[in-house]
Amino acid sequence: MQRLKGQTALVTGGNSGIGKGIVEAFAREGANVVINYVVHDEVTTQMVQQITVNGGNAIGFKADVSNEAEVQEMFRQAIAHYGTIDILVNNAGLQRDAPFTEMTIAQWQTVMNVNLTGYFLCAREAAKEFIHRGVVPERSSAAGKIICISSVHEMIPWAGHADYASSKGGISMFMKTIAQELASQKIRVNGIAPGAIQTPINKSDWDNEASLKKLLTLIPYGRIGQPEDIGKAAVWLASDESDYVTGATLFVDGGMTLFPGFIANG
Ligand code: BGC
Repeated sequence: MQRLKGQTALVTGGNSGIGKGIVEAFAREGANVVINYVVHDEVTTQMVQQITVNGGNAIGFKADVSNEAEVQEMFRQAIAHYGTIDILVNNAGLQRDAPFTEMTIAQWQTVMNVNLTGYFLCAREAAKEFIHRGVVPERSSAAGKIICISSVHEMIPWAGHADYASSKGGISMFMKTIAQELASQKIRVNGIAPGAIQTPINKSDWDNEASLKKLLTLIPYGRIGQPEDIGKAAVWLASDESDYVTGATLFVDGGMTLFPGFIANG
């Protein structure tokens, strides 16, 4: 069942971690995928080859999502290549952790530029294309879909990560505000808030037994998440199966946001 057949998706930060999981899930569902990335051309090339071998269609595009000119050029070229874009997944993000009083302005700005400004720049270009093209009923009931990958830390405060948690809180309000503003144009905007997903960003939390055991005390469902857990949620939010859903955040976190400290009666 190819739920995204004939649609084109652009996934930022698409050659690693959660982004990679989303790209692979979208390709399996029949979407053409533009894999945005900044480093590791060889990984992107390999992903494109694999998708092609499996009968799918993908291209890589190197661009810094926090750079307005690069983002605009990426959308121009992606639209020239595939004709249009139906789905944007704002996913590219990073952490620059530091105790609060030691956090530098460079760390703060790097995180805000990529995690928040990058989402603004890409969503703006995508929305312009969706509005310009309008609904194509054979492909989707919506003119376009935007999915913002956030984090449980849009809700859970996180000591030592003031920049990152602030950026994720910002993504939540950004997502809801543009969902409200764009709904009448038939554009759906939603968020996914992943918990601990096994990716390079949190490697030190799962690459040894003691850290993993400690991490699992925060996850009632008893396992670390995988990129495909997020890929499946993203497919649903991108497809017409969620056609009446906009402005929502889907927490995909094995219960991390359920206050696990209270499991044993607080
Ligand atoms: C962070 C990970 C962390 C997870 C749960 C994510 O947003 O990027 O490093 O493991 O939240 O705390």
